[in-house]
Amino acid sequence: MATRIPQEFIDEVTSKTNIVDVLSKYVQLKKAGKNFVGLCPFHEERTPSFTVTEEKQFFHCFSCGRGGNVYKFIMEMESKTFPEAVIEVAKMGNIPIPDSYQTENTNYQNSDSRTLLKMYEETAKLYNHILLKTENGSHALKYLNQRDIDDGLISTFSLGYAPNNSDLLLQFFKDRSISENILRKSGLFAENQEGELFDRFRDRVMVPITDEAGNIVAFSGRILDKNASTAKYMNSPETEIFSKSKVLFNLSNAKKSIRDNQNVILFEGFMDVLSAYKSGVTNGVASMGTSLTDQQLYTLSRLTNQINICYDGDDPGVEATYRALTQLNDERFTYGVISVPDQKDPDEYIRSEGSEKFSGLVKNGVQTPISFILNYFRRHYNLNNEHDQLEFLNQSLQEIVKLSSPVEIDMYVGRVADEMNVSKDSINKELDALRRSNAIKQPAEYKDIQRTALGGSTTTVRSSKFDRIEKSERCLLYWTISFPELKANLKGNNFQFVHENYQRIYESLLAFGDINDNTEMSDFMNGLDNDGKNLLAELEMMQMPDEYTEQEIDDYISNINNSDLESRVSDINQQLKQAAMVGDNKLQLELTKQLIDLRKLLTSN
Ligand code: CTP
Ligand code: MN
Repeated sequence: MATRIPQEFIDEVTSKTNIVDVLSKYVQLKKAGKNFVGLCPFHEERTPSFTVTEEKQFFHCFSCGRGGNVYKFIMEMESKTFPEAVIEVAKMGNIPIPDSYQTENTNYQNSDSRTLLKMYEETAKLYNHILLKTENGSHALKYLNQRDIDDGLISTFSLGYAPNNSDLLLQFFKDRSISENILRKSGLFAENQEGELFDRFRDRVMVPITDEAGNIVAFSGRILDKNASTAKYMNSPETEIFSKSKVLFNLSNAKKSIRDNQNVILFEGFMDVLSAYKSGVTNGVASMGTSLTDQQLYTLSRLTNQINICYDGDDPGVEATYRALTQLNDERFTYGVISVPDQKDPDEYIRSEGSEKFSGLVKNGVQTPISFILNYFRRHYNLNNEHDQLEFLNQSLQEIVKLSSPVEIDMYVGRVADEMNVSKDSINKELDALRRSNAIKQPAEYKDIQRTALGGSTTTVRSSKFDRIEKSERCLLYWTISFPELKANLKGNNFQFVHENYQRIYESLLAFGDINDNTEMSDFMNGLDNDGKNLLAELEMMQMPDEYTEQEIDDYISNINNSDLESRVSDINQQLKQAAMVGDNKLQLELTKQLIDLRKLLTSN
């Protein structure tokens, strides 16, 4: 690891960074008054509690209590150490980093995981080299070129070729003294009946799968020969670094484009993602042959709220799209469908019709779910048959009733009316009847309960949880942090906070010195422990006026001091009871005297 990062460099990064820019890479932030709000990336939630103040350069989640400056965010989000977080933030802001402070990727904390990552990276390099530079790889290269996959794409996606050899990779890592144990854990090898390892991928085009940060964590290998008896695609097994349900193919490459386009395109196949990428549609991802998991949706929700489904245009693809639309009822997203004509998959379509036609489809051909679903129903029913007609109407109404925009409703009512050759009026009557029966099924009350449970008003709940004393502590500490004269005054009086968490911040503040600007505030935070950072951010997030008044400070101090007396009084009362129980007269007398003194103090305050 790098040596200590000098304070000047940290300050430079702090002063050149805007927390809103950095956090926007992880959270969709919306302006709300002076602040920005979004869905907290540290836990699942549907109502935004995550708040960022640009003015103070802090974030705070009113729901989970996490908070801090930009470094704390990166430390938690990417499991990084403080120096690593500083470097990361510097990189994001294109702030030149002195060579000696470059740090390694330590997203994966344990050393086995790090070894595995390294092995996957080396494997990808080796396979890429074999593909591009050796005779062994020439037919694979030819195959890719036939599929219009050129050197640019090969390099962007680090494609490779695993030759038809059962111990090439094995020997490669044995030469590098990788232990048997790690070889087994890596997933790069399979085991024969004698328990011996051999290369898992043979005679396959290799597509590296990366995690969100771009580390290679798995491979998918495609056969070259159409008629081969094995599966077309073979994927790495689950390992310490790879979980199929978490990874989305191409997410690391696509991230920026997803944000810029404000939508993500979901493809069925890797090759579709590649072809789309080549035709300039760079916001595509694919899951690994499964429907989207909660984890994957959650990951996407941090980047966008629009998912456009672009599955194959053949019947299985259309069925899969319908299934996806009915299953993906996650309220965090709106959905769209890009239908590929001629029963083609996107890759085939791009190769036969060209990039421009495809990017045109992506730009102008996004259907709403309802429009896709109505088409889907129409194809499934024979509208010449009365029974089918009614079934079609029924199903369509069930979908239309879910819409909220009157214009949209009117449009699709019109479409169904045309389709069935009946009046819009009669369809609207049916729709009303359906609404009434749905309302009975789901009483209004339920919505209220749900709303309360999801809690828009966490702020008020939270603030009322503090008693008078603690509120005084919080306000006093808030002012003391920003106004050095208050700090000097408290210090002179040997002031103490009642609660340890506030006292600890206060003591750090005394040790730190004066805070005059955001950079100093950030430095102060850097020195606190995790809880301290959370608390400081929470305090800084409080809605307070610009200036304090002498009177309020006096009130806070006397509240806090009295609390000390009050709790000492109750302490002594306890001890008195015990002394009485054991009949210790001397102690009783002593305690009573203390009690009288305390009471005097209390009334004088
Ligand atoms: N898949 C898989 N195993 C298979 C077949 C498919 O894991 N035996 C997954 C792969 O992720 C693949 C996706 O399902 O990318 C879609 O499959 P398919 O449409 O058959 O593949 P294409 O993307 O069309 O691949 P290609 O064009 O190379 O045939
Ligand atoms: Mn295909």
